[in-house]
Amino acid sequence: MREIEDRAASAYREKFGAEPELVASAPGRVNLIGEHTDYNSGFVLPCVIGRRVAVAVGRGEGGLYSADFDEAHPLAEKDSSWAGYPRGVAWAMDEAGHEIGAFRAAFAGNVPLGSGLSSSAAVEAATALALDELYGFGLGREDLAVLCQRAENEYVGVNSGIMDQYASLLCEAGAALLVDCRSLEAESVPLDLEGAGLALAVCDTRVERGLADTGYNDRRNACERAARTLGVEELRDATEDHLKRLSGEELLRARHVVSENARVLGAVEALRAGDFALFGRLMYASHASLRDDYEVSTPELDAFVELAERTGAAGARLTGAGFGGCAIALVPAGETGALAEECRRAFAERGFEEPEFYEFVPAAGAEVVG
Ligand code: GLA
Repeated sequence: MREIEDRAASAYREKFGAEPELVASAPGRVNLIGEHTDYNSGFVLPCVIGRRVAVAVGRGEGGLYSADFDEAHPLAEKDSSWAGYPRGVAWAMDEAGHEIGAFRAAFAGNVPLGSGLSSSAAVEAATALALDELYGFGLGREDLAVLCQRAENEYVGVNSGIMDQYASLLCEAGAALLVDCRSLEAESVPLDLEGAGLALAVCDTRVERGLADTGYNDRRNACERAARTLGVEELRDATEDHLKRLSGEELLRARHVVSENARVLGAVEALRAGDFALFGRLMYASHASLRDDYEVSTPELDAFVELAERTGAAGARLTGAGFGGCAIALVPAGETGALAEECRRAFAERGFEEPEFYEFVPAAGAEVVG
């Protein structure tokens, strides 16, 4: 067991005075490329990180306990706390006809919160996998991801796409995951950063993603409008040619989605050919499109990406919804520290919040560990 899984198991013992029946955990994610494409039924290419949420579960009363917040919540109540995520998953399973009895659960995690690294999807994925195992439903990972998304959309009330839950449940160590968000088919794409002498640096700009909810929903609505104007089912079906028939906001948003889908497919080809230079250029192009056409970047995210480019990163871009949160860069191995140093200095000079840095390797998806 990893340290975080041990911590969930100890918390369960302490809180409920019994051994957990099993422990599961699930990671947070970064998206390498393919942003704001999932809810347009397009393509995404995330990988998961070595930060996880672990849950120890068992049948019986006792509710939901978080070791990190030292907070207990009843299973059968509704509030706006973190407990909404596991409750939502239990609700979605029930709705889908998989009957859940009274269970209790203790959580521990080390996915940074509120940074856009999908800590909430990690809570959902860990819960879903644990409950599936506890009750012996035998559901597939894809089905669990769909249930988690339903929990997030309909129970928690956040209108996110399928990417984060898919990544957390289906990613494999040493690989990225290409997801076709229409067919929901997913395929591992080997991502040997070490072999290429590269590291994945993550900069958390510490900018609160205040506009995230409204901005995100506005973007979704604009995409739906653009698809209606074009007479296509979803922007997944739009082509470069179609764009000539759009203007204003609809044109900008649709141009991002159409070009981003093409970039994801190009990025997968580049990875398969071991062409990280091309992969990196596609990352920069993705960032420019998110900044200029989708308009979800911030001065901090732009500053990081510019600095990464200036200091020789193969590629860099904002990751996740934008409006703050994190950016990633593919940097020569061993150079994350230097980039972090320069970035801290540049941010301080411009009066930005002090950023936080991480370096990740593509980690393993959700697992039952004990
Ligand atoms: C958030 C959502 C995802 C996806 C990204 C943008 O992370 O949860 O479903 O839409 O934004 O790519």
